[in-house]
This record gives sequence, C-alpha cells and structure tokens, in this order.
Amino acid sequence: MEELQNIQWFPGHMTRTKRKIQSQLRLIDAVAILLDARVPYSSCNPDLRSIINNKPRIVILNKCDMADPAQTKKWLALFRQKNIPAIALDCKTGKGLNAFIPAVKDVLSDRIEAWNAKGMTGRTIKVMVVGIPNVGKSSFINRLVRQNRAKVEDRPGVTRGNQWYTIGKGFDLLDTPGVLWPKFDDKEVGEKLAFIGSVKDDVLDTEQLSYRLLEYLRDNYSSPLCARYKLQNEEIGQLKGYEILELIGKKRGMLISGGEIDTERAASTVLDEFRGAVLGKMTIDRAEDHPDVRI
Ligand code: G4P
Repeated sequence: MEELQNIQWFPGHMTRTKRKIQSQLRLIDAVAILLDARVPYSSCNPDLRSIINNKPRIVILNKCDMADPAQTKKWLALFRQKNIPAIALDCKTGKGLNAFIPAVKDVLSDRIEAWNAKGMTGRTIKVMVVGIPNVGKSSFINRLVRQNRAKVEDRPGVTRGNQWYTIGKGFDLLDTPGVLWPKFDDKEVGEKLAFIGSVKDDVLDTEQLSYRLLEYLRDNYSSPLCARYKLQNEEIGQLKGYEILELIGKKRGMLISGGEIDTERAASTVLDEFRGAVLGKMTIDRAEDHPDVRI
C-alpha cells in the first residue's frame, strides 16, 4: 500500500479542492455527503469535516443495494446519534431517493422558519453534493434531475466549471467543485477502497488484495463465501487468505499448464464477484469498529 499512497495521494490535490469547495460555501445552505454504504468510514475523506466547517450536512449511504442491510441500519443509527441526518440510497433503482429532500428540509428547519418569518417564503434551498470519485455523485444528481424533469443551468457569477442543477420545488444542487480525493491515511483504508474497486487494480497486487479480502470474508461472511465457492465453513476457518484462494481456484478448475492452480485468475474472479455483489450484500467497514464517523 506504500506504492498506492505515493501514486494516488498528493497533498496538493486536496489543497486545490479545499479552496474550491470553500469558495462556494457561502452560496449554499447544506452539504450532502455521499458515502459508499459498503465502506462508510473509508469512503469519507477525513479532511471534509474541517473543510465544510459548520455547514449543515446530510449523509447519503449510496449503493446500499450492495451493502449488508444490518450494517447499513447500524451506520444510519450512528450518524443520527450524532445529529447528522442520514439516508440509505440505491441509485440503480432510485430506492430511498424520496427521503432526500425531506431530510434536507429537516436539517434546515430552523433556517427555513427564520426565512419564512422574514417573508422569504419559497427561498431556493442550495445543496452542495460531495463525495470521493465513483461513490455515485453523477448517478445521484441525474436521478434527482430526471425525477423532477429540470434543466441544467449555467449561472452567472459562479466560477466556470461549477455545475448547478435545478431540481424543482425551489431546490438547487451543486456538484463537487474539484475532485475530493480519498485519503489513504492508513493501510486499511487504502485496502478497503481497493476491495470495492475505487483504486485502479493496475497499481496493486491483485492476488495480495484477494488474500486480504478473503480473510475478511472468512471472518465476517463465511456462509455466503462458502455457498458461492462450495467450500465448508470448518474447512476455511483456520486457513490463510492464499490457501482459501487456492482452494477456490481448485474447486473452479482454474488450472494452468502443468496442473498448477491459476491463482491470478481466481483472485480476479473473487474481486470481480465481490465488487458486483455476486457474493452477496456485504459491508467492509463495520459500524461497531468506527464510532467516530469522521464527519
Ligand atoms: P461519481 O460521479 O461519484 O464518480 O460516480 P458515478 O455516478 O459515475 O457512479 C460510479 C459507478 O457506480 C457507476 O457504475 C454507477 O452506475 C454506479 N452506481 C452509482 N450509484 C449506485 C448504486 O446505488 N448502486 C449500484 N449498484 N451502483 C451504483 P459504472 O460501472 O462506472 O458505470 P455504469 O454501470 O453505470 O455504466
């Protein structure tokens, strides 16, 4: 993961994004933070908290169709415990989308009341959508825009390149200005982002990565793992990641000439099947391990 940090993380990136986000803060009322429901801790850039300072925020656990529902429930409770409204969303189908606008209105209820008292009824609510790449920001915005049949606007006075979307009902969205890079602040975070495919495979050793994933699945999702690859729970309980991988390769008949197991192919299969949720709905950051939600 050393290599990964060097390739993908430059402080300069974040300084630029920080400036861009902060220059827009005065134009917006709230921030919608998109996280990947499979890794709500690792997909959250820890610098965001200080960048957006005290702006009201709403957390969206996206891709919840691929996450473990029991864990998603725990994560939602954890955010709500910290007075951060949180919703679970599946942008593939739009499930959960209807809860977004009410959640924003809820977090802004005091302000909306104050606007109304000043006669500013119907004032447009402006929300900035932020999240690391691939978390589903475009899908989320597109769905909201489509649902409300609105148009994309170019606003005078707003830095070029910033994209505002009117989604009707007095509601505007601003896409993340700049790129909010993930932060590989520890080895585990980098690894988990690699599990879900947020880090390009060509900078990582696929086999090593699959060993780590298999060890996590052995400890947390042993039954679906065994069911998928026709393994026995007792059989893998004591095995190391590379031994489980070999077993999977063997069971699947992935052999190279000479009868050796094609572990590279087995590793790609395991990673692809995990990323496509073929193995089942699974969460890699467990809520109980991350009481500080980083937001
Ligand atoms: P970004 O703007 O934050 O970078 O993310 P984007 O919307 O481009 O989404 C990244 C990928 O994640 C896309 O897949 C998108 O379809 C998928 N995605 C977004 N939201 C969800 C969700 O709630 N559930 C699931 N299962 N997938 C989601 P892709 O393979 O890059 O493209 P494509 O499959 O749409 O062609």
